[in-house]
Amino acid sequence: MHELQIQSLLKRYEGPAGVVAVNRVSLTIEAGEMLILLGPSGCGKTTLLRCVAGLEEAQEGRIVLEGRPVFDGERGLNIPTHERDIGMVFQNYSLWPHMTVEANVGYPLAARGVPRVKRAQQVRTMLETVQCAHLADRIPAMLSGGQQQRIALARALASEPKVMLLDEPLSNLDALLRVELRAHLRAIHRKLGFTGIYVTHDQVEAFNLGSRVAVMRSGDIVQLGTPREVFERPASDYVARFLGIRNALALRRDGGWVTEAGPLSGDLGVFGKVPDRPGSLQLFIRPESLQLFAEDESPPPGWLLLPPGRVSDVLYAGAVTDHVVDLQGQVLYATQPTAQRVFEPGSRVRAACRGHDALLYADGVLVSP
Ligand SMILES: Nc1ncnc2c1ncn2[C@@H]1O[C@H](COP(=O)(O)OP(=O)(O)OP(=O)(O)O)[C@@H](O)[C@H]1O
Ligand SMILES: [Mg+2]
Repeated sequence: MHELQIQSLLKRYEGPAGVVAVNRVSLTIEAGEMLILLGPSGCGKTTLLRCVAGLEEAQEGRIVLEGRPVFDGERGLNIPTHERDIGMVFQNYSLWPHMTVEANVGYPLAARGVPRVKRAQQVRTMLETVQCAHLADRIPAMLSGGQQQRIALARALASEPKVMLLDEPLSNLDALLRVELRAHLRAIHRKLGFTGIYVTHDQVEAFNLGSRVAVMRSGDIVQLGTPREVFERPASDYVARFLGIRNALALRRDGGWVTEAGPLSGDLGVFGKVPDRPGSLQLFIRPESLQLFAEDESPPPGWLLLPPGRVSDVLYAGAVTDHVVDLQGQVLYATQPTAQRVFEPGSRVRAACRGHDALLYADGVLVSP
């Protein structure tokens, strides 16, 4: 069953700086699925969630929750938030300031008539899950941002809603806690089986938690797929850039395939699918896919070779080392495992990647692999 359907939803903020924050978005989210919204600041992620929650009223489109329309622009239907069975954790945690942590988390349960003893038990379990049991008697003003965020998460989960909307629920936590809570969240999701929309800026979080990922740009969904599909085949140069694929080389056909810095050689299989029409061509390669070889070495067969260059900077980053390579004015980044090989600044090198790691875009659209 489709738990949540969003159909041609349009949300425009009026006023002098009027902006279309959600541009006729359609999305179907299956029961038990965790859909991730990924995209840069200002692309409309929060607005889309707020519309689903009923905190913002869209101008057009429909939202259907478990077969029941909760918003319909044409019919003027807009069911209030408290009548939608939705749990929310937003960027601003909005805990009730005068209530203790325990009361905050227990509130949705009390509202549903869960008896006191059972309620206390459930609250305790939730607080333990987010590692805040020791804070039960405090009020929100006595908590750090990260603690408030975890309490908000516990409160939203306590009522075991069918649909959970999570807007960067882990953004204020330090790296370690974040990884830990991410694992908890996965386990809780598996256990409770809620349907979720989860907003994050963090790719790893998105790929860890999501059954599907939707990438947004200026109010539109520009790619929707499994984490693997989105990671391995970013549909457009925009998505590739957003995913941090920093190496982009403009190409032209001149006998062979030529970059600004000279011709490509080796495995050119990726070019088998280039459309036979004029237009711009770009080659994207992840820094981690780009391997450096000494100038006089020859990479093994099956590698695509870039023109020779010079290492201009070397940035030690622990397990990996980032190399900045100057390809006659064009800058490339190559991330190599530190244990494997590190070049000195000034080294003459040849950058190469395995043929299937080269992503080719024609007029901004992925054509290969
Ligand atoms: N209340 C408002 N009035 C007018 N414009 C708004 C309002 N809220 C958001 N916007 C605008 O709508 C667009 C989408 O904003 P939104 O908050 O949905 O972005 P976001 O993707 O959640 O960004 P972030 O990652 O920074 O949280 C932005 O251009 C923003 O400036
Ligand atoms: Mg936001």
